[in-house]
Amino acid sequence: MENKWWQSEIVYQIYPRSFQDSNGDGIGDVRGIISRLDYLAELGITMIWISPIFKSPMADNGYDISDYFDLAPEFGTMADFEELLAETKKRGIKILLDLVVNHSSDEHPWFQEALKNPQSKYRDYYIFKEANERPNNWRSIFGGSVWEKLPDEEVYYYHTFHKKQPDLNWENPELREEIYSMINQWLELGIAGFRVDAITFIKKDLSFKSIEPDGVDGLAKCTKTSRNQPGIEVFLKELQERCFKPYDSVTVAEAPGVGYDELDDFIGPDGFFSMIFDFKAADLDVASGTEWFKPVAWTPEDLFNRLKTSQLAIQESGWGAPFIENHDQNRAPSKYLKDNQTNPVALKALALLYFYLYGTPFIYQGQEIGMVNFERESLDDFDDISSIDQYHRGMAEGLTAEEALAVINYRSRDNSRTPMQWEDSPSVGFTTGQPWLAVTEQSSVRNVAAQMADPDSLWRFYQNLIAVKKETPVLTHGQIAFPERTEEDVFLYRRYDEDQAYLVIVNLSGQAQTVVYPRPGELVVTNQGVTITTNDIKLAPFGAALIKEEC
Ligand code: GLC
Ligand code: CA
Repeated sequence: MENKWWQSEIVYQIYPRSFQDSNGDGIGDVRGIISRLDYLAELGITMIWISPIFKSPMADNGYDISDYFDLAPEFGTMADFEELLAETKKRGIKILLDLVVNHSSDEHPWFQEALKNPQSKYRDYYIFKEANERPNNWRSIFGGSVWEKLPDEEVYYYHTFHKKQPDLNWENPELREEIYSMINQWLELGIAGFRVDAITFIKKDLSFKSIEPDGVDGLAKCTKTSRNQPGIEVFLKELQERCFKPYDSVTVAEAPGVGYDELDDFIGPDGFFSMIFDFKAADLDVASGTEWFKPVAWTPEDLFNRLKTSQLAIQESGWGAPFIENHDQNRAPSKYLKDNQTNPVALKALALLYFYLYGTPFIYQGQEIGMVNFERESLDDFDDISSIDQYHRGMAEGLTAEEALAVINYRSRDNSRTPMQWEDSPSVGFTTGQPWLAVTEQSSVRNVAAQMADPDSLWRFYQNLIAVKKETPVLTHGQIAFPERTEEDVFLYRRYDEDQAYLVIVNLSGQAQTVVYPRPGELVVTNQGVTITTNDIKLAPFGAALIKEEC
């Protein structure tokens, strides 16, 4: 694959509501982000992805947009955004915005007009069906039917996600034109591109037929009939040609449901997107990303195999977007390290494990200081709509209330949405007011100030990983290979080109391991747990290293 400008970016995801509050209302905002740009520059990242900042009633914290052209007042004004653009530019940081166009908010003027006036053209901007009962048995991602009845009519509208997120009707060419022109206006402003939300849901099985139920509610997951359906390629190609291509923008798509055999279309040299997130590794602990109440046991071997299969498929077609956290996932140390979630050596091992994989690496806010899951005592302490649904759904499927609470404590999206821990104080330096969501913990270790002051911290480790990646192009542009492994818990991968090779080796267990390895080399990065001898590599529990191999 020919080199592209976005391949060498290092992306940091900001969940604006929880990153930094600037005015004491307890809600993070754009001016808060501006005040932390020096921090981000010091970490070394080159691009930020900001979760939605647009006007929204916040049923899904901004993933329900009621005006694509303006900011939510709690996040700031257009003038604040323009200042953010200018300030990021000064520091060599690019901006990715979140593009949410599978659905809008039900408070968007288009939807409001469609409700008020069934004759208006906006009725066809959404999916309405006249019926005496719900048109089929598809289940929405946030629970219940995908169909919501209008109060005074025998009419239902379709929502893949929450009922306050009606799906836009991509079959309507005029609606598509409105979307393209909106996208291009943001690109004109000078953003680098978009993270593209839930984009594989834009095409539905237009027969809208009921299917075999898969739960006690008599419903069936809508992913079977409305995700990555035949015909979606027409919309995605048009989107690419009309918007992303002319601006040479970067796009990273949330595209669940795309098989490895379809990657050429999605991320190939002329693919719809620059890269897509693969959730196979992130969701290895649950039956599916949408069914947390069905936990799945896994081993490090499973994790390794998922990463390997994914990476080889991605390399074959295009470019990857390695990540271990985002605003929909629980905290990675709690998921992957379990009892070792606060073990500093293990945290660094986890960072090394994914950071030099093939693709553009993403870091989620708080990941760089090892933030962990929280523990809440009652359902009332949760904000996330998905957690509330999974709690009730879990109980309907046979869990006790206690078990259902444990499931959402573990998997809740709120885990990654708690305030960013800047310092060791009750409101963790996030706000001078009352934070909108309770902080995870007040910790003397897991906060930015403490870790920046400690040369051996996880934060410093991430800073170094980034610096090394910038200095070592083969870690970006080189091929990836997975050498034969001899120890179940030890991960290995090599990045290489014609002249050089680097080995990443990670012991993801609490036992010491020895790996016979006849091509020793020099340690470039390590968490202090690795010794190289003439023909083997000794790894302490959670020992990990980047080794420059002798060629
Ligand atoms: C994506 C977002 C998630 C949101 C959903 C609906 O999965 O990442 O946060 O709830 O889309 O927009
Ligand atoms: Ca604020």
